[in-house]
Amino acid sequence: MSKRGEMDRLTIHSPAKLNLVLDVLGKRPDGFHELRTIFERINLADQITLSRSKSKKINICCSHPHVPRGPSNLVFKAAMMLAKDFSISEGLNIDIIKKIPVAAGLAGGSSNAAAVLTGLNRLWRLGMKPQKLASYASRIGSDVAFFLYDRSYALGTGRGELIEPLDVRTKLWHVLVTPRVKMYTKEVFARLKLNLTNKKDSVNILLPFLRKGDLTRLAGALSNDLEPAILSLRPDFIYLKKKLIDAGATGVCFSGSGPSVFACVESQQHAESLRARFDRRYTQVFAVSTL
Ligand code: C5P
Repeated sequence: MSKRGEMDRLTIHSPAKLNLVLDVLGKRPDGFHELRTIFERINLADQITLSRSKSKKINICCSHPHVPRGPSNLVFKAAMMLAKDFSISEGLNIDIIKKIPVAAGLAGGSSNAAAVLTGLNRLWRLGMKPQKLASYASRIGSDVAFFLYDRSYALGTGRGELIEPLDVRTKLWHVLVTPRVKMYTKEVFARLKLNLTNKKDSVNILLPFLRKGDLTRLAGALSNDLEPAILSLRPDFIYLKKKLIDAGATGVCFSGSGPSVFACVESQQHAESLRARFDRRYTQVFAVSTL
């Protein structure tokens, strides 16, 4: 606390997401694609600490070599927007402890930006209501808005930024494998051949199985229309999917624009045993569950 009774620092958990289904419905006049997706929040998380600084600058500190320190970081963009719009002249330190792989289809950067929006709303006492926060989120990126909601699952439409939280209590376990290759969302969407994307309503096929916790059917209903585009960039990733299936995992699917691949498994024990098995070959392997 400062002498004026203001909070001086704030630490926030910033979780990753998986997409259980991702339907691409078409290309929009603004160049983005119209989506229908189910987001799941998982317990793989970064930690963000915001603290006031005397330097008058926004300073990002992160030990991860691939996290930018300047305007290309969504966290920086979020803080700059708020500082400008609310005429905040004091400096800010943003410390990021990175656990979520970067450019991996897990929306780590988007989640960090949402954490900064909600954190600065408190630290700088901006008084923004949820709708205002959501409008900042959608200006920063398509995946940011989901993380403003304290919910495990949500339906995402529009560019992915229109969020309808889902009242679903099911807790899932996953093994998650992230090859050490960065995939850029823009490049993956650019590779997409729209006539090849499926035309079925994957959201409404999957939702009843998710609500009931019917793991077998849920596993069969996972889908991602970006898969052909991801595989056109990295055809070898099909072997990763195959290896997971051969190891007894069901419902093996890419998350977002990849390269992260996850499977739905029936227990923590199964997730841990698959993690141990794939850990020998891949460096970023996690046993995770719904948060
Ligand atoms: O919104 P975000 O910054 O995450 O998007 C990155 C890029 O991914 C966009 O510039 C666009 O090329 C592509 N994209 C898209 N349709 C979406 C989301 C992203 O074409 N719904």
